[in-house]
Amino acid sequence: MAGINEFHTQVQSEVCSVHPLDPLSVAEMREAVALLRTAQNLSAKVRFMSATLREPTKHEVLAYEAGTPQVREAHFILLDNTDGQTYEAIVSLSNKCVVSWKHIPGVQPPIHIDEFIECENAVKASPEWRAALSKRGITDFDSAIVDPWSAGNYGDHTYSGQRLARGYTWMRTSNDDVGYGRPVEGVVAIVDLNNMKVLAVEDNGVVPLPPPSGNYTATSVGPLRTDLKPLDIVQLDGPSFRVDGYSVSWQKWKFRIGFTPREGLVLYRISYDDAAQERSILYRASLSEMVVPYGDPGPNHNKKNAFDVGEYGIGRLVNSLELGCDCLGTIKYFDAVMTDSKGGVTVIPKAVCMHEEDAGTQWKHTDWRTNHTEVRRARRLVVSFIATVGNYDYGFFWYFYQTGDIQLEIKLTGCLSVGALPPDVQPKYGSMVAPQLYAPIHQHFFNFRLHFMVDGDKNSVYEVDTIAEPAGPDNPLGNGCYPMATLLDKESVAQRIINPLAARYWKIVNPAKRNKVNQPVGYKLMHGENVLPFAKPEASVMQRAGFMRNHVWVTAYDPTELYASGDYINQHSGGDGLPAYVAQDRPLENSDVVLWYTCGHNHIPRPEDWPVMPVATMGFMLRPVGFFNANPAMDVPPPELRASCEV
Ligand code: CO
Repeated sequence: MAGINEFHTQVQSEVCSVHPLDPLSVAEMREAVALLRTAQNLSAKVRFMSATLREPTKHEVLAYEAGTPQVREAHFILLDNTDGQTYEAIVSLSNKCVVSWKHIPGVQPPIHIDEFIECENAVKASPEWRAALSKRGITDFDSAIVDPWSAGNYGDHTYSGQRLARGYTWMRTSNDDVGYGRPVEGVVAIVDLNNMKVLAVEDNGVVPLPPPSGNYTATSVGPLRTDLKPLDIVQLDGPSFRVDGYSVSWQKWKFRIGFTPREGLVLYRISYDDAAQERSILYRASLSEMVVPYGDPGPNHNKKNAFDVGEYGIGRLVNSLELGCDCLGTIKYFDAVMTDSKGGVTVIPKAVCMHEEDAGTQWKHTDWRTNHTEVRRARRLVVSFIATVGNYDYGFFWYFYQTGDIQLEIKLTGCLSVGALPPDVQPKYGSMVAPQLYAPIHQHFFNFRLHFMVDGDKNSVYEVDTIAEPAGPDNPLGNGCYPMATLLDKESVAQRIINPLAARYWKIVNPAKRNKVNQPVGYKLMHGENVLPFAKPEASVMQRAGFMRNHVWVTAYDPTELYASGDYINQHSGGDGLPAYVAQDRPLENSDVVLWYTCGHNHIPRPEDWPVMPVATMGFMLRPVGFFNANPAMDVPPPELRASCEV
C-alpha cells in the first residue's frame, strides 16, 4: 500500500497557486463576508442565500492565462427577512471593498437549507396544522416530518410578494424508515419563509395513513445476503491522474474543477493533448437547471414542480461522499466551501469524487488468418457529485475516455414522492408501490449548459440527419442513404428536438480548422434517453421551465446567461432563461456559442422503486467527429495486471 500513501502525500504537498476559476477558499469566503457585513452594516435579519466566486468572464480568464494580473471577487445573493427584498453584492478581495450593491426587485432567491429546518419547526408548532393532524387521529407530532416544497406560481395573488413554501407532511415510524412512506395526504401548510409563519393549512380531505413499508437501513431490512465476496479496486502504483489545486490532468485530458451552491460541480477548460498540442473542447460545462413536473392533476400533487437547481441550489445539497461506498478505488476528493444563511462559512468535505474506472473493451481486432489479436482495455476518469433534494437523490457523473469521448451520466435514486390512497383504490395518474401508497407519474428534466470551444473561440453548430435517397437513377437498388448537415445559423432556428428515426445528432465544428481529410474538426452531441413534457402548453410549469420545449438550444455566448430558467425561478411566473435569451435571435455561425441540452426521463413508478429506487441512468455523450485524424486511443498500451486470475 506504500504507493497509495505516497500518492496522498504528493497531492497534499503540491503547491496550489490560485487560478481565476478556483472556487473561493475558506479564508477568502470569511474575508468577503466580513467586508460585506461591515460595509453594508447588515442586520441579523439579512440572510446569505448564496456566496460564490464572482466568476470572471471567458475573456478575462483567457487574458489572465496570457499573463495579466487577476482580480478575485465574491458574488453574494442576500435576502432581507424584514422586508423580503433581495440584493446582489460583489465584493473585491483584491481591493478589500464592496464593488457593487444592487436591489433586485420582485424576485425570490432559492430556498436555503436553513429555511427547510426553520419551516419544518414552524409548521409543527402551528395549531392549524396540529388540528389537521388531530382530525386524522394523529397526535404524535414529534414523529412527523415536514418538507417545504417550492410554491411555484399559479397566478394566485392571495400572498403576492410573500416568500412562500408549501409544507407537506409524513409520519415516521422510526429513523430506519425512509421518512416518506406514510404521507399525511390532503394537508398542505402554506408558509411565509420571511417570518416563518404558517399562513394557511389546506385540507383536501382525509385519507388513512398507509401501513408502514419504508424500512431501508442495513439493520432493518431483514437478513442480508451472505454470498457476496469483496470486490476491490487495487491501484498499487497509485492513480494515473495528477492534481494541482483544482487543475486535473489525466491521460491526455486537462480540465479544472469548480463548484457552486447552485449548479454543484462545474468543469472548465476541458482539453485533450493531441501530438503535444493542448486542444480545447469545452470552456465550461455544468448542470444549468432541472425540474420535476408531476402528472397527477389532483389537489395534493398538482403543484409539485421542483426546480432542484434554481429553487433549492443542488450544489448546496451535495453529499459528503464515503470511500468504498460512493467511490471505489483510489480516490481524490474535492471539498465544497459555502456559507450558511447567517454568513458562517461551512466546508462540505468530499463533495466531489474523482477516480479511475475500468470501462471494458476499448478496441480489439483478431487477424483470423494469423490468429494474432490486439485488444486494449478502456479506462475512464470519473468526476462526480451526489445531491439529496428532500426525498430524491441525484448523482451527476462526468466520464472522460481515452478515445476523446466525454459522457455525462445522471443517476436517479432515493425515495419517491408518494401519496396515500384508501384501501382498494387504484390511481389513474400514478402507480401503486406499496399497500395504500401510490407514486404519481412524473418526469425529470435536466438542462446542461455546454460552452463549447472546439479548437478555438469560433464554432458552428449543425444538425445531422440521415436521409434515405429517393429511388431513381442515382439509387437503382433503393439502398442509398446519406448524412445531411443543416447549419443552425441563428437562435430562432437553433431550437431542436431529437429524431431517433433520422439518427439525428448535432455537431459543433470549428470551420477554420481542418483534419487530414479536409473536414472541419468537431465534436458531436449524441442524445440518450429523452422525452418531451406531457404538461399542456398553458400549464404553469411549461411557462416556468420553457427550456423543456426543446432538447437542443444554441445561444451566442453572454456571460450573464447561465441558467435555463433564468436567474430567479423561485415563484417566478415564467418566460425567463432560454426563451428570453433566444428572443434576441443572435447569429451563431462561426462564433462563440453555447449549446444547451435538455434531457427528460419519464418515470412511471414501479413497486420495485420502493422503498428506495434502484438507480436509473440517463445522459448524453460528446464524441469527437473528425476532431482527430485517427483513433486517438491507438497508443494505449496493453494492460499490466497483477491481481486478475482464473478460477
Ligand atoms: Co422519478
